[in-house]
Amino acid sequence: MKILFLNGPNLNLLGQREPEVYGRTTLADIEVGVRKRAEQRAAEVDFRQSNHEGELVTWVQEAKGKFDVIVLNAAAFTHTSIALRDAIAAVGIPTIEIHLSNISARESFRHKSMIAPVCLGQIAGFGANSYILALDAAVSVNGK
Ligand code: DQA
Repeated sequence: MKILFLNGPNLNLLGQREPEVYGRTTLADIEVGVRKRAEQRAAEVDFRQSNHEGELVTWVQEAKGKFDVIVLNAAAFTHTSIALRDAIAAVGIPTIEIHLSNISARESFRHKSMIAPVCLGQIAGFGANSYILALDAAVSVNGK
């Protein structure tokens, strides 16, 4: 199975960005962990990051027919992007929303996710481990 991991704005700064909230693990470290786990689960992964909403929308659109599941940390676009939500709904690929932090326990503007209603489910609050949990969830979704 093929899983597309997409990361939104500022996640390229993980490791140095607000470490008290997001930890000290870099996105490159997270990718290494995801790839290790993927190998154990016999899954193939593509792992990308963009600071641009339109690029993320294009990647979601292009995933059709190429990936079985999308794992999406849309970062701040989670709370604002109708375009990403519409792209997920349009392609119909099962999508898992993830966050490092527990967005429900933070500022009220983070409580609303525009993409949650078109995702299978959400994994949030487990730091870098949210990505590993999402990979396991993606494999189980595909095995259904
Ligand atoms: C985040 C949570 C978002 O609210 C925030 O804008 C991010 C990261 C997380 O992984 O915890 O950039 O998606």
